[in-house]
Amino acid sequence: MIELKSITKKYSKLTAVNEISFRVEEGEICVLIGPSGCGKTTIIKMINRMLEPTSGEIYIQGKNIEESKPEILRRNIGYVIQNIGLFPHMTVAENIGVVPRLLGWSKNSITARTEELLDLLGLDPDEYSDKYPGKLSGGEAQRIGVARALAADPPLLLMDEPFGAVDPLNRERLQIEFLKIQRKLKKTVIFVTHDLDEAIRLADTIVLLKEGSIIQKDTPENMLAHPKNRFVKNFVGTDRALKRLARFTVADYLSKAEGLCIEKNISQCIKNKRDKLQNRFLWITDRQGRLMGWLDIEAFLAQDDIEEALTRVNPAEIALGADFTLKEALARMLSQGVSAIPVIDNADRLIGEINLSTIEKITQEGYPK
Ligand SMILES: Nc1ncnc2c1ncn2[C@@H]1O[C@H](COP(=O)(O)OP(=O)(O)OP(=O)(O)O)[C@@H](O)[C@H]1O
Ligand SMILES: [Mg+2]
Repeated sequence: MIELKSITKKYSKLTAVNEISFRVEEGEICVLIGPSGCGKTTIIKMINRMLEPTSGEIYIQGKNIEESKPEILRRNIGYVIQNIGLFPHMTVAENIGVVPRLLGWSKNSITARTEELLDLLGLDPDEYSDKYPGKLSGGEAQRIGVARALAADPPLLLMDEPFGAVDPLNRERLQIEFLKIQRKLKKTVIFVTHDLDEAIRLADTIVLLKEGSIIQKDTPENMLAHPKNRFVKNFVGTDRALKRLARFTVADYLSKAEGLCIEKNISQCIKNKRDKLQNRFLWITDRQGRLMGWLDIEAFLAQDDIEEALTRVNPAEIALGADFTLKEALARMLSQGVSAIPVIDNADRLIGEINLSTIEKITQEGYPK
C-alpha cells in the first residue's frame, strides 16, 4: 500500500532521516517509535508532502507521490496532527467537515457523515456538533481530531502522537476504541508514538528509530522476545516479558473451566468427579450457565452445606471477557490473589478460565503458539 525507498532528509548539516526504507501493507497499523528528535514527524510530513525528502522515493498504491499535487495527495490521506490541531474558530462539525467541503460534498452529505463519525467515536452529535474546541476535554478533542482525519474516508491515515495529550486512563480508552474502529474500517495507518505500551497494543509492525535510522522493524511480539541489540533491549525495558502479554488475548488461551449448575445434585456430582477435580474450587453457574460464584470443594465435602461453601460473586467484578489481554488477566490475578480467573461471554455465561500457569508458560517460552 505504501512504500518508502531510501528516504533521507537533511537540514544543512543535520541528517534528520537517514536512508529509511519500509513498506506498510493495506489495512495494517505501522507504529513509528523512538526517542524525541529521531525523525518520526519528519517521516510523516514527507508522506503527505508537507516536506520534500532530500533523496529517495515514496509510493502510495504503486504511484510515486511526486507525481501527485500535494493538495490532491492530502485529500486521500487522513492526518491527525501532533497536539490535536483543531481549528479553534470552527465548531466540531465544521472541523470534521473541512476535507469533505474541499471535495465539494453537499451540505447534507457532510452533516450525515459528521453525525456518523461522532457516533462512531462515541460522542453524541446533538451535544457536540456545535461546540467549539475550547469547550472540549483533551480526550474529546483527540476524538474529533480522529473524526476529522476519517471524514473523507481516506485509505491512508497518518497519526502523529494522536493521543499524546491525554491522561493515561483516557488514553487507554482511546486506544481500545481506535482498535475497534480500525477492525471495521481497515485503514492503512502510520501511527507515531513515544509510548511503548501504546505501540504494543496497536501495532501490526513496529519501526523503532534512533537518530534518523531504523534500528529494528518487527512485530511487537518479536521485538519484545528478540530485541536486536542493546538499544532495543533498553528501549523495551526489563519487563518486556510482561509487556508482551498485552499482545495475547484471553480467547486464545482459554482453558476448560470446571463448572457446575447450582440446581444439580452438587454433592453427588462432586463425589462422581472427585478424581478429575484438580482444583479446590469449582465454578458454580445457574441453569443458563451464568456464573454465580465458586465453591470450596473441601469445605463443602466436610459440611455438605452449599451455602457455607459457596462464595457468590458479581460476574462483572470477578470475571473477564474473552477479548481482554493476558496482561489484564495477570493484573487481575495479582490484585485478587488468585491463580485462575473465570471467563464469561456477553450474557455472563461461563465459557472457560484463564490460568496463571498458562501465563507463566507464555512469558517463559518466548514463542507462544
Ligand atoms: N525545520 C527544521 N530545521 C532544522 N532541523 C529540524 C527541522 N525540523 C526538524 N528538525 C530536526 O530534525 C530532527 C527530527 O525531528 P522530528 O520532528 O522528525 O522528530 P520527532 O521524532 O518527531 O520528535 P518528537 O518525538 O519530539 O516529536 C530533530 O533533530 C529536529 O531538531
Ligand atoms: Mg514529532
